[in-house]
Amino acid sequence: MFAAPFCNAQLETSPPIPASDSHPVPAIQDTETAAQRDARMAWWREARFGMFIHWGLYSIPAGTWDGKDISGIGEWIMNNASIPVADYKALAPKFNPTGFSAHDIVALAKSAGMKYIVITSKHHDGFAMFDSKASDFNIVAATPFKRDPLKELAEEARKQGLKLGFYYSQDQDWTAPGGAAAPRGNHDPVTHHWDKAQDGDFANYLHTKAIPQLKELLSNYGEFPAVIWFDTPTKDMTPQLAGEIVALLNQHPNLIWNNRLGGSYKGDTETPEQFIPPQGYPGRDWESCMTMNDTWGFKSYDTNFKSTETLLRNLIDIASKGGNYLLNIGPDSHGRVPKPESERLQEMGAWLKVNGEAIYGTRPTLFGAEAGALSATEKDKKGAPKFISAWDWRSTTSPDKIYIEIFNWPKGTFHLDKVPRKVTSAYLLADAAHKPLKLTQSGDSVDVQLPAKALDPIATVLVLETSK
Ligand code: GLC
Repeated sequence: MFAAPFCNAQLETSPPIPASDSHPVPAIQDTETAAQRDARMAWWREARFGMFIHWGLYSIPAGTWDGKDISGIGEWIMNNASIPVADYKALAPKFNPTGFSAHDIVALAKSAGMKYIVITSKHHDGFAMFDSKASDFNIVAATPFKRDPLKELAEEARKQGLKLGFYYSQDQDWTAPGGAAAPRGNHDPVTHHWDKAQDGDFANYLHTKAIPQLKELLSNYGEFPAVIWFDTPTKDMTPQLAGEIVALLNQHPNLIWNNRLGGSYKGDTETPEQFIPPQGYPGRDWESCMTMNDTWGFKSYDTNFKSTETLLRNLIDIASKGGNYLLNIGPDSHGRVPKPESERLQEMGAWLKVNGEAIYGTRPTLFGAEAGALSATEKDKKGAPKFISAWDWRSTTSPDKIYIEIFNWPKGTFHLDKVPRKVTSAYLLADAAHKPLKLTQSGDSVDVQLPAKALDPIATVLVLETSK
């Protein structure tokens, strides 16, 4: 077993991204200076924690079609059950989520300690959750609800001080002729249609629906979106076609967009899905997106919810590796947030209310071995040495403090080696009085006398105040 120190130098400042000559249209990442990039990414790096919202027509069948439970993630039911376009579109007149409250959803995100929200404006099923002139298959024109939830969320996010972003399925569209349709789980993204009504020209789909809708999303919601979250690029998305979208994005110089546009554009952020990279992504901004149960879109019978302990320790693990956590909720067809999801978010918020200083705007760990090590014997799926995570503690850093988030409370003393700074004092963040703890430092080793019991069963933060 050997411990790999990692990502210490992560992103204090952005390394210049080499202009890519395969980009017919240079993207902002190709042209901006490192200082400009740092300014553009600053709020996002400070935020660390965001809410992903998967909500749409698929919340009506909620995982069941023709009385049969359809396996797989809820938002893929049309593809997983090969539902004909006309049958799927017939869901729209039944969609009337009068239980939807933008105020309550933004307030929930805020109470959870989340700093931004990314909602599905259009998912692979092609249904627009906003008022779109480019396609009448949208929530205002095709449903009795007739309201634009993105407009209401934008107003509330503005009022409550959160950032709002839009997920947009630029490539896959299962109800628009020519839209791509990749079989789930098959990473060889070649389109296969199951209904003649889906056949058509991809470029025509982009020019008549996707690009006009992206224009609407980028100009009808005030200063938002702050983020565009693309998804599942396929072979259809050539650099030339992607370049046309980039030309649009370049008109919004503060916009942040991810690595899933396609056409060889890297975007701003790596997006590991449903996992936490063992050692982060040194030199890249990254965001781990994750479900609370096993589906993004609401499924009535999916109750396999992760514990609040797991979700909080994930957030801390991700922050200690310099990443963001985009944690998903899947409202039901009434627009209500499932109780198991809101409860966990409120519990996470309670912890962050006391310990947020150790997460927001912090830098990654100065250590590394605490996260685990590569196994000398076990191999991962790719046959490489498997990374075995350890879950005793994590660490995050600020200019004059080292935070130790302790999961497994040691008896008596907490010992730390290779401390690259002089430690001047120690206390527990959850102790409002910040009562000084007995501290000894010899060379780069530190010992801190701890009280018998942890102050928080999920994670108790030990603060080491340091001087250069
Ligand atoms: C995958 C799924 C998609 C989901 C996305 C979230 O790409 O296909 O349904 O929205 O992950 O990360």
